[in-house]
Amino acid sequence: MKDKSPTYWNEYSNLQYTKHKLISEYLKGWFPKLGSWCGKILYIDTHAGRGKHIGGQEGSPLVALKTFLEHTYKDKILSKCEVKFIFIEWDESNVDQLQGEVKAIGKLPQHVTCDIYSEDAFKLLSDLVKNFEIKNYRLAPCFMFVDPYGFNIPCDLLRRIKSNSRSELLITVIWRELDMAIMNKNRPPELTETLNSVFNGNKWEVIQNIQDYEERGETTVQMLKTEIGAKWATYIRMLGDNNKTRYFLLHLTDHEAGRDLMKDVIWKCCPNGGYFARKRDDPKQQYLIKPIPDLKELKEWLFCKLSIKPHTWEQLKDMLREEIWLNKHLWSVIKELEKNKQIEPSNFTGRFSQKSNPTLKLVKT
Ligand SMILES: C[S@@+](CC[C@H](N)C(=O)[O-])C[C@H]1O[C@@H](n2cnc3c(N)ncnc32)[C@H](O)[C@@H]1O
Repeated sequence: MKDKSPTYWNEYSNLQYTKHKLISEYLKGWFPKLGSWCGKILYIDTHAGRGKHIGGQEGSPLVALKTFLEHTYKDKILSKCEVKFIFIEWDESNVDQLQGEVKAIGKLPQHVTCDIYSEDAFKLLSDLVKNFEIKNYRLAPCFMFVDPYGFNIPCDLLRRIKSNSRSELLITVIWRELDMAIMNKNRPPELTETLNSVFNGNKWEVIQNIQDYEERGETTVQMLKTEIGAKWATYIRMLGDNNKTRYFLLHLTDHEAGRDLMKDVIWKCCPNGGYFARKRDDPKQQYLIKPIPDLKELKEWLFCKLSIKPHTWEQLKDMLREEIWLNKHLWSVIKELEKNKQIEPSNFTGRFSQKSNPTLKLVKT
């Protein structure tokens, strides 16, 4: 097969930069977390590409591999864990390029392997999963990055991979084109079939009744989460030049730690907390200007929770997992409101800290 969009490699916008930073920051936390108790972990890149952009910027396979090779805990992880990188790419010239880039890194340490497959990722993974299911094997815990050009991602396959292992998925959901297909009034039967495969059935039809483009996107993400069978969906919207969502980068996991880590990473990559990246922004600029997050909505959220009944810090922290803000944001709001005597700890003596898990209630006015 041929790379259908070879010009992709000519540019390197803020969206690609953010995507790679997100992968790198997430893996910095994921490798030691999983590597501390698993005998083997996998990083699978289903649409690996050619390794480098024309301008020399590294693509996702190199980003992932180097994140591990440069990790402070690399040796500690490798003392008890095997780390396997699997890169799949169907265009042979991209594969050749990628092989050259991986070779240029030099000899990999013992217990690190990197296999590059020149195949259709979905065919290869489907055969693998079928084989595993027949033999009742389990895939090692894996982080799988699915980064196609189009929206045709077989939901059933991802669901089977997820249910077979402790895997987490990061998926590029090409929203503009997916939305166009959903809303197409003269949709040919093949396109309906593709949508049925993306959503594992025809439930997507209800999305057509939603007026707003971004709202349809949000509903789609929640639907994919349910159909692929994940407990947590965390996503960042990648905006095009018109400031509308061009695609989503969707993270799916069943684990609280995975959700928390992804939230942390998104705040690091998009410091204004908007959970979006803009194509036209200059990646370097984001480091120079670090906007202070607007925590007004978080204050309202806290007031709302405490108006129902007092809650402990730990309870609030658990509830906050559903929201976009981080624990540190909540604590800073709590401290401010406590100082302003708008909330108070109940039946509490000692140091007012997260560790002492105070029960918080609203001050009656
Ligand atoms: C968006 S690019 C990948 C970019 C890469 N993940 C990165 O961040 O550097 C998509 C790549 O997937 C390849 N591709 C498209 N469909 C594929 C499939 N079904 N199986 C394997 N590779 C595929 C294309 O040739 C292209 O190189």
